[in-house]
Amino acid sequence: ADEDLSPPDVAALWEQVESCRRCDLWEGATQGVAGVGPDDASLMIVGEQPGDKEDLAGEPFVGPAGKILDQVLEEAGLSRETSYVTNAVKHFKYEVRGKRRIHQNPSAGEIKACNVWLEREFELVQPKLVLCLGGSAARAVNGRPIKVGENRGRVLERADGLQFFITSHPSYILRVQQYEDVP
Ligand code: URA
Repeated sequence: ADEDLSPPDVAALWEQVESCRRCDLWEGATQGVAGVGPDDASLMIVGEQPGDKEDLAGEPFVGPAGKILDQVLEEAGLSRETSYVTNAVKHFKYEVRGKRRIHQNPSAGEIKACNVWLEREFELVQPKLVLCLGGSAARAVNGRPIKVGENRGRVLERADGLQFFITSHPSYILRVQQYEDVP
């Protein structure tokens, strides 16, 4: 069947993401996780993909990385409630180790397959600025690989005028924090 890739609103997008079969990640995931937040938000925040908690809850950034995200947003004088929060990839990619589901980085092909949804989110929400959390988000928004280290911290612009800003992923901050106490 032909896929309608132009959902009229964010609610329709949610349904389409849930039934998306553009790559294989849906098979292992509980559900597709699309963006959450006002559809007229001026700030869109893009993470990598749902984690274990997000996969179960069906919402982005509800687990440990979400706590860090809330902290840094607050420190920056921003709020999650007024932002539209989503991910580059909408289904959880993981590897089972014992009883745990361990996050795996999405491939370039998976990011590309999922890009139709992110681009629809840009069209529907029309954010003034897109905040990319980490390399997968930056790659998805930029359309090709872009180095976080060399490009973070300033506003960049795509050919279509969409402005974006790259920063570290909150999970990276979590990992660094875990080592902070180590002499
Ligand atoms: N990490 C992400 O990139 N996105 C989430 O939704 C949760 C953790």
